[in-house]
Formats: sequence, structure tokens, C-alpha cells
Amino acid sequence: MSDILVHTEAGVTTITFNRIEKKNSITAAMYAALADAVEQAAADNAVRTLLIQGDATIFSAGNDLGDFLNAPPSTENSPVFRFMRALAGFPKPVVAAVCGPAVGIGTTMLFHCDLVYAGDNAAFSMPFVNLGLCPEFASSVLAPQMFGYHRAAEALLLGEPFMAEAALEVGLVNRVVPPTECNDFAQKQARKMAAKPLSALVETKRLMKKGQQAQLVERMGEEGQSFGRMLREPAAREAFTAFMEKRKPDFSKV
Ligand code: COA
Repeated sequence: MSDILVHTEAGVTTITFNRIEKKNSITAAMYAALADAVEQAAADNAVRTLLIQGDATIFSAGNDLGDFLNAPPSTENSPVFRFMRALAGFPKPVVAAVCGPAVGIGTTMLFHCDLVYAGDNAAFSMPFVNLGLCPEFASSVLAPQMFGYHRAAEALLLGEPFMAEAALEVGLVNRVVPPTECNDFAQKQARKMAAKPLSALVETKRLMKKGQQAQLVERMGEEGQSFGRMLREPAAREAFTAFMEKRKPDFSKV
């Protein structure tokens, strides 16, 4: 079965991460499938809302670390950047249902969702510094904006996980629900919006986001340049190799 499942019903396109055995870590092929699904949902007038979900135990472990080591994204047209641009510019409402770990892009993609529901087992983290990397997906601007600077600095400079209740407090999450009910609840909310006039949904989102888009695109570009360079540097390569070899990284020489 595919690692990314896409299903459209009742005006909602639901994208499900389906690589559970690898904790829904995302490969280049998965980013390409995600970008295609988001672009198609944007273009299809029968689709009014998008829902992104994992299962009750895991949302996503972020980028596949083997891919980062062996085939890091090299151009602006790499699937990961295509996915980021498609989601950041998606004109209709996006809902996310997050249970279990949401690591790296598993958390940063949530800044580009409109409603986020979390299971009480959700654990969010942006461990870029621990991997010798810097923030991506405009999280260097959106995290301070949403959390306040000091709480964002804690999340981004320590890179430690924070749980669903803390995410609720900083405004990353709308509501915390039992993990087994999370996807159904998010689907219900997505369908509620999908029953409303599309033009009203699109115009409301456009107005709420007005003025922000150019800054986000510019920041994603700047972050992408640094991130792309840092992926190839010794600190990141040591972090990825250590993960693959199931040992602690040794940053003493980098
Ligand atoms: N890339 C590639 N493989 C990954 C992965 C990732 N990001 N995250 C998990 N996996 C794989 C593991 O290598 C393991 O594979 P194996 O069974 O072949 O050994 C499998 O998924 C299960 O992972 P495991 O670490 O045993 O699960 P866990 O429940 O103990 O921990 C996480 C779950 C998500 C907390 C942990 O896997 C993790 O920290 N992953 C890395 C997250 C990360 O740094 N992402 C990049 C952010 S930029």
C-alpha cells in the first residue's frame, strides 16, 4: 500500500501518512505525493477543505533521515520545497489531526494549517539544532509570532518535545482529544467547513493571511538556503549517521 493515502469525500480531501513502521517519516517520494495531492485539492472545486492526519500512535517523525544523509534536497524544485510551497499557499481551510510524535516538519507544517486537533499523546518537537540544522517551513518567523519569542527560543534552541497541553497553551493546537477519537473529530470539523460556501471560506482565509505571504515565501527561501548547506556539513552528517547506527551523536569534533 502507498505511504501516502489520499481520499476525497464530502468535500474533504484527507491525506493520511501511512508509513507507520518507519514512524511516518517522509521520503522524497512521499513529499512528491503530498505536493501532488495538495495541488490537486487546491485546483478541484469539489474540494473545500484538506485534512492531514497520521494514526492514533504517530503523526510523523519528520524527514526520512536516510534520505537526508544519502539524497538531500538539492534544488528549489525538490519535492519537499514543492510540498512546502503548496501547503503554505493553499487557499482553502486545512485541518490537522496529530497524535503521538510530530517531529521536525511534522510540527512545522502545523503552522500552515488552520485548525489543529491533537490527541493527548501528541508530542511536538523541532529538534533542528540537535541535528546541526536550522528551522524550516518559515518556523523561524511563525514560531516566535505564535508562541512569543522566549517560548519559541525554548522550542527551537533546546529542541525538546512539548506535549499536547503545552501546544494548546501556546496556540499551536485548538483542542486536545483522546487519540482514538482525534481523526474522526478532525474529519467532523473539516466536513462542517466543507458544507459552507467555498468562496466565503477562501475569502476569509485570504483576508486573515493578507500581508503575510510574501514574508513567508522570502523566509522559506532564506531558511532553505541555510538548511540545504547545513545538511551537507559535518554536524548534520554525524547526527544522521548516529541515528542510523542507533548511537548518540558525537559533536566533539564539529
Ligand atoms: N527517518 C528514518 N527512519 C526513521 C525516522 C526518520 N526520521 N524516525 C524513525 N525511523 C525509523 C527507525 O529507524 C526505526 O526503524 P527500524 O525499525 O528499521 O530500526 C523505526 O522507524 C522505528 O523508530 P524508533 O526510533 O524505534 O521508534 P520510537 O517509538 O522509539 O521513537 C521517534 C519514535 C519519532 C521519537 C524516533 O524515531 C525519532 O526521534 N525519530 C527521528 C526524528 C527526527 O529526528 N526527525 C528529523 C527531524 S528534522
